[in-house]
Amino acid sequence: MKVMTLAALSAAAALAQHSDTVLVNPFQTPDDRARGAVFFRSQCASCHGADATGGAGGPSLATGTFRHAASDEGLFKVITKGVPGTPMPGFSMNGREIWQIVGYLRSLSASRMAEQAAGDAAKGRAIVGAQKCTGCHWMHGGGSPRGLDLSTIGARLSVGELKRALVDPSAEVAPQYWLWEGKLKSGETIKGHRLNEDTFSIQIMDGAGKLRGVDKSTLAEQKLERRSAMPSFKDRMSEAQINDVVAYLATLKGDAR
Ligand code: HEC
Ligand code: HEC
Repeated sequence: MKVMTLAALSAAAALAQHSDTVLVNPFQTPDDRARGAVFFRSQCASCHGADATGGAGGPSLATGTFRHAASDEGLFKVITKGVPGTPMPGFSMNGREIWQIVGYLRSLSASRMAEQAAGDAAKGRAIVGAQKCTGCHWMHGGGSPRGLDLSTIGARLSVGELKRALVDPSAEVAPQYWLWEGKLKSGETIKGHRLNEDTFSIQIMDGAGKLRGVDKSTLAEQKLERRSAMPSFKDRMSEAQINDVVAYLATLKGDAR
């Protein structure tokens, strides 16, 4: 057991030094995934939840994107080495068992992303043009300097998540998109997203997409709202139109230009 673990670790380490070699999960049959699910429930569920959607002791592993790993090989490494400085331990199962867990985790997002959009993508594209989404977003190589790139959004969000982003944008907003407004002692008002903050200054991306450093000593007042700058499109589009836009966004995977 110990020997196989070491072999698996050094194989992963050797591969990491040759980044042109992409290691493909060799254990990907339905039976492998089923075994991976069993290992997962016995070893990982106590922290990550029985269905890997997150628990009290660990984050969801079912979204298809990982903070610490970009590839299957990266996942293999995280599971064998753990995440130093966090409760995530390294596991000394044999390599085959680890690959089976990796396959199981991948299958979770594959089924999540498999949901098909009900709308018409071509109509959705026209609606996106008419609704001026590029006033705030970057899409197909053009749009707002504010960034907020949607050109690979279809690879990241599921159909259900895309729909929620349009209908209820403030439901889940990452802190760097919270709305910040500051009034300077000079009387000037600055609005934007607060990207960063240290003891003496705040970095703001203003409405025009410009980065601004604001010296805290010049601030008279400031407020931060945990909602999105994006309006809800629930009342601006019909249900069918929203489905069309979702169908179009789902095609934006960054592979077709
Ligand atoms: C004692 C609790 C605990 C157990 C048991 C545990 N994990 Fe974790 N795991 C964590 C925590 C906490 C993190 C988040 C680390 C961080 O802060 O980045 C994590 C992170 C991860 C990540 C990285 C997630 C990312 O977004 O990059 C993976 C992959 C992972 N765990 C897989 C597993 C697998 C597979 C098992 C079982 C073999 C397992 N974990 C068992 C607590 C645990
Ligand atoms: C007034 C500016 C603004 C307009 C107009 C706007 N958005 Fe957004 N949008 C944002 C901001 C800011 C965010 C990031 C915060 C959040 O998650 O709501 C966002 C987030 C999103 C997300 C989720 C992105 C993610 O990574 O989770 C999607 C999808 C999206 N917008 C699509 C659209 C579409 C389609 C349109 C046009 C119908 C549109 N937006 C119009 C500002 C805007």
